Amino acid sequence: MGKYEPVLLRSVGVADSRTLAVYQSRGGYAGARKALTQMSSEEVIEEVKRANLRGRGGAGFPAGVKWTFLPKDRTRTYLCVNGDESEPPTFSNRVLMEHDPHQLIEGVIIAGYATKAQVAYIYLRVEFHEQFHHMQTAVDEAYAAGILGKNIFGSGYDLDVYVHRGAGAYVCGEETGLIESLEGKRGWPRIKPPFPAIEGLFRKPTVVNNVETLCNLPHIIERGADWFLGVGPQGSSGPKLFCVSGPVKRPGCYESPMDITCEELIMSDKFGRGMTDGAKVKAVFPGGISMGVLSADELGMKMDFDDPRNFGLLGLGTAAAVVVNTDTDIREVLRNLARFYALESCGQCTQCRMGTSWMYRIAQRIALGAGRLEDLDLFEEVSGRMGMMPGLSICGLPDGATFPLRGLIQKFRGEFEEHIRNQAPGRADELLTVLN
Ligand SMILES: Cc1cc2nc3c(=O)[nH]c(=O)nc-3n(C[C@H](O)[C@H](O)[C@H](O)COP(=O)(O)O)c2cc1C
Ligand code: SF4
Repeated sequence: MGKYEPVLLRSVGVADSRTLAVYQSRGGYAGARKALTQMSSEEVIEEVKRANLRGRGGAGFPAGVKWTFLPKDRTRTYLCVNGDESEPPTFSNRVLMEHDPHQLIEGVIIAGYATKAQVAYIYLRVEFHEQFHHMQTAVDEAYAAGILGKNIFGSGYDLDVYVHRGAGAYVCGEETGLIESLEGKRGWPRIKPPFPAIEGLFRKPTVVNNVETLCNLPHIIERGADWFLGVGPQGSSGPKLFCVSGPVKRPGCYESPMDITCEELIMSDKFGRGMTDGAKVKAVFPGGISMGVLSADELGMKMDFDDPRNFGLLGLGTAAAVVVNTDTDIREVLRNLARFYALESCGQCTQCRMGTSWMYRIAQRIALGAGRLEDLDLFEEVSGRMGMMPGLSICGLPDGATFPLRGLIQKFRGEFEEHIRNQAPGRADELLTVLN
């Protein structure tokens, strides 16, 4: 990989980067000004479609295409900015809002103009106290400068922006859970269809886009779709943020085209700089935890939108890799993850509510030394009967639970079997009575 100049993170390390004055002095708002004064909404959509900007929130759906699902005859449109960032080991949205809130506001103006939205809500997870403060300060500054509100850049386009904090739940990152939460209700995902583009916030046509997706827009409009298509591999173009955490020398959030491998993200001097002294990779969850797991001999996987499927993963997800070292007991990894999904299932769908808690119970007894060899098959069976893929659930949480959990059992089966065979005799009977 040649030298790459950061685009999305270009303001990190720049003094007072959060202020409007500094943002504008470095060319900020040129993309929004160009869109609103020189392009029609349809032209903006076409440019974003041509760039093939794929959503950075997890599913990789093309943003421009999503915007075309809005009904032509609508009179009210909402834009929801998904800054819930609820996927474990993911913190790229946080970094963007912390260092460059005006970049996000500029993206919101462009997306709002393209979709003809009158109001945009920036939805943040409750723990983002500082980021809420930074975003609100930037929104206030933008209003004071006439960049938000009425007649933006003299274009006749009006947009109001509100920063909203949720109460904190994984499922509030799911777009319809987010919409329910914004409406002041419990963050329960909605049955689809209707999809938000047809009936979303306050039952009106709504677009939900991730923070990082929107931060790409000013650059696409300013530099053009051809520039964007030239960054990284075909089908996975544009600047991308990657997180790396766990026992690596330099955990953090890094920007790169999507032409790097998982191994480079962990080992390269540009990113994670390798494992901490003496540590060796056992497993990596490369796309947040919910996309699945790689074993140590699978690190050649490319961190793009397509290659993860070749390794049995659900997708690239949030491109946030968490590394597990060889000293970690694989049973504890399984138990930890299973606990997360059991706690975060909102409970509306029986197979998700019961399935995630059964998986947690099985994982618990394996971790406590009371596992049975047949538990490994039972685990696979339960996980195969949950989720949107078999058409059983309202949202994708159970799919996101089965990929890492089943992946662990499949890719580390020998290790699980060895632990179970080496358990103290009698322990299983003793603990089964407690756990069942
Ligand atoms: C359980 C669950 C949690 C999710 N959490 C987030 C999240 O925290 N942030 C996010 O942008 N998308 C999240 N998503 C995906 C959103 O539903 C939606 O696809 C995304 O916000 C669309 O934005 P994009 O097209 O710009 O990627 C989640 C999905 C599921 C099923
Ligand atoms: S699949 Fe799970 S998290 Fe999603 S709505 Fe159903 S019960 Fe809730």
